[in-house]
Amino acid sequence: MKNTIGVYGLGVMGANLAKNMLHNGERVAIFNYTRDLTDAFMDGYSHPEVSPYFELESFIDSLEKPRKIFIMVTAGPIVDSVIQSLVPLLDPGDIIMDGGNSDFHNSNRRYQQLEEQGIHFISVGVSGGAEGALHGPALMPSGNPNAYQQVAPILEKIAAKVDGKPCCTYIGPEGSGHYVKMVHNGIEYADMQLITEAYLFLRKILGLTVQEIATVFQSWDETELKSYLMEITAEILTKVDEETGKPMVDVILDKAGQKGTGKWTSQDALDRGVPSSILTESVFARYLSSLKEERIYAEKHLNGPKFEAGALDKEAWIQFVKKALYMGKICAYAQGFYQYKSASSQKGWELDLGEIALIFRGGCIIRADFLNDISDAYRENPEVTNLLLTPFFMERANQFESSLRKIVIKGFENGLSLPCFSAALSFYDGYRSSESGANLIQAQRDYFGAHTYERIDQEGTFHTEW
Ligand code: 6PG
Repeated sequence: MKNTIGVYGLGVMGANLAKNMLHNGERVAIFNYTRDLTDAFMDGYSHPEVSPYFELESFIDSLEKPRKIFIMVTAGPIVDSVIQSLVPLLDPGDIIMDGGNSDFHNSNRRYQQLEEQGIHFISVGVSGGAEGALHGPALMPSGNPNAYQQVAPILEKIAAKVDGKPCCTYIGPEGSGHYVKMVHNGIEYADMQLITEAYLFLRKILGLTVQEIATVFQSWDETELKSYLMEITAEILTKVDEETGKPMVDVILDKAGQKGTGKWTSQDALDRGVPSSILTESVFARYLSSLKEERIYAEKHLNGPKFEAGALDKEAWIQFVKKALYMGKICAYAQGFYQYKSASSQKGWELDLGEIALIFRGGCIIRADFLNDISDAYRENPEVTNLLLTPFFMERANQFESSLRKIVIKGFENGLSLPCFSAALSFYDGYRSSESGANLIQAQRDYFGAHTYERIDQEGTFHTEW
């Protein structure tokens, strides 16, 4: 009997997705460019429906038609070379899915090129890391809707489920699935940085121990802040380094890495002209963190207030931090979803933002209870311009903005860098201001460059001889 799907690329993600498909009743052909990973897959793993292949021809030949091939290789030029090697072996109507964190521009190009050859290309945003791949990721597939229908039964089976609903939905045309995954990661960066700033405030300003912060985060994970990132952060903070006996977090070098998806989200926001400032600050925070040697030198030579840990009413301030974090999250998600909305209308993708929020409830890194509220907001009114203007989030923002303000002021007074908390507050205050100061910018532009300006009281464009 022919195999129902082929998985090309057996790194951790590819191997786990293949196992997930096997556990869900698929007959899976597996292939890797080098045989070591195929051997490693088969070593110690047995399943009656898995078939390893060491030649591309026999791998492809083993698949039932239309062939379905899921490629999970490093994003970038390797995806193109894999596609080039596959195409001569495929027939019109066959389907290639790319599950890597590919740049959506490349996915758009691959979609066009393959469609011209009669081959369907589905961009599949995959979130959830190695565990998610094995037990149920969130999946964001896009491309030809008819082709999607043919792979939907497999993708929906392997996806995480929330209330019985698969965390997988058809996203839209061409590479929109990878676009949605990219902005998911931008939100992920912001969410991680906001939690980190809450941690820093609790530690440096309130003087809590790492274990105490873990306990606080565990308790927050039972409230409206419940999320995967909150849960794993609490767990991380309980971990002790066996060698030194110190909290694990204290022996890890404070330089954050990144593979690029957060940066792409910011680049896209700049290109699109949308103010995703919190998402972008989280990328810059990682860059700033990487200047470790300079930071060590600067700490000794640049003035600023010293932290005075412990002088505040801890219980009251823990509540302020909690509300500030919630408020920061509202603003960050509002920015991410605004970016979706803007891309959707600029590209004509017709993204269903309520549905996207629903599939983010399970499997993915930003899964959180909070996404139910986002989804409800879009269900109530699919034309929402900004989540901050929906009844639920407006009420929450009005309740919590003062806590965010308190935390930013107190942090700044004490010399604590809070890039995402402060970006959230600036965004919030800027967004709720009917007067922005951009009139002065326009005057300056007109002064030095005769760029003209509009007036508030007359139609047309004007120039002044300053
Ligand atoms: C996910 C993650 C995953 C990965 C990214 C981001 O949704 O499962 O986003 O795709 O963690 O590579 O990692 P960086 O922090 O290295 O950019």
